Amino acid sequence: MRLLVTGGAGFIGSNFVRHVQRERPDWEIVVYDLLTYAGDRRNVEGLDRVSLVVGDICDEQALEGAVAECDAVVHFAAESHNDNSLHSPFPFVHTNVVGTYHVLEAVRRHGRRLHHISTDEVYGDLALDDPARFTPQTPYNPSSPYSSTKAGSDLLVRAWARSFGVQATISNCSNNYGPYQHVEKFIPRQITEVLSGRRPKLYGRGENVRDWIHTEDHSSGVLAILERGRIGETYLIGADGECSNRRVVELLLRLMGRAADDYELVDDRPGHDLRYAIDASKLRDELGWRPRYADFERGLADTVAWYRANRAWWEPQKAATEARYEVLGR
Ligand code: NAD
Ligand code: DAU
Repeated sequence: MRLLVTGGAGFIGSNFVRHVQRERPDWEIVVYDLLTYAGDRRNVEGLDRVSLVVGDICDEQALEGAVAECDAVVHFAAESHNDNSLHSPFPFVHTNVVGTYHVLEAVRRHGRRLHHISTDEVYGDLALDDPARFTPQTPYNPSSPYSSTKAGSDLLVRAWARSFGVQATISNCSNNYGPYQHVEKFIPRQITEVLSGRRPKLYGRGENVRDWIHTEDHSSGVLAILERGRIGETYLIGADGECSNRRVVELLLRLMGRAADDYELVDDRPGHDLRYAIDASKLRDELGWRPRYADFERGLADTVAWYRANRAWWEPQKAATEARYEVLGR
């Protein structure tokens, strides 16, 4: 198997590449990544049987060549941060929608298997006290430029599967955490704020709930779907990890030896989704998938330890990231 991984130098993509490299030692992996501000070649450097092609998924010719030489494609590449999409939406339309169109056309032309990576945010949000969770039948109702472009990309994949017979599957996963996550995202931002001697910053009143999953569990779910998922189907990936943002910050502060209330409340994100929650029973029942990182607090402690030990990885991005937040007032 020669696997093409778009966006494989980003957070989840590079964790997936390392997962596959460990779990499938006879596979060859080609990472296809533009190395935007969110991609980092160090994330995949020095790995056996892994090569990097620096390229844009919107560059039809370059992508075509890479797809032609592979057996299957896992498509992670995207603009992924909600706050950026609220400030500057066009790159999201371009990469997430137009880029996915190019991925679809390339796999269609070459008859390649495709797994498309998406998000639970396509379903909108839930009330805090709603007993319902997202299922593959939940109607799409995205809120932000980011989630609406991811929803658009999913719909393109569904249309290409039905109209052109593209051999595609889709997964919609909840919030990932773990090593190599960009410092713009919630958990690494707070850890690195504390490591920089500042206070964590909670949007609004910190009541919003996210359904956390360790990125390693996302990877095992994607590999299971790639190998055993039914073509044309959508699978939701989640590990029953619902937690309010305030609770996450309190846990981090405690793990890092600071008072649990040593945080700041800052301006809320416009249109901020209140709660996400995933029902992953289709993935569990059909493919026998189980998350291995069930203990969120332990996963957080490992993640804090990773950022402590890898200052050289995140420090170069930190000042520019906080300067962007300064502009947003958050
Ligand atoms: P990330 O921002 O860390 O990484 C994105 C990667 O895509 C980067 O390496 C970047 O260089 C690359 N990229 C961006 N534009 C590109 C282009 N035009 N051509 C080629 N490469 C390009 O994102 P992430 O958090 O790792 O998310 C990866 C995927 O998983 C995305 O599709 C995202 O929507 C989805 N997802 C993320 C989460 C989460 O919690 N972070 C949850 C569910 C789904
Ligand atoms: O649900 C899956 C999605 O999770 C993915 O599709 C996205 O790519 C990923 O970025 C993530 O989106 P969120 O918007 O939920 O993640 P973020 O890390 O930006 O924020 C998590 C929560 O924390 C959210 O409620 C906003 C809040 N937040 C965020 C930051 C950066 C804060 O309270 N303070 C902060 O400083």
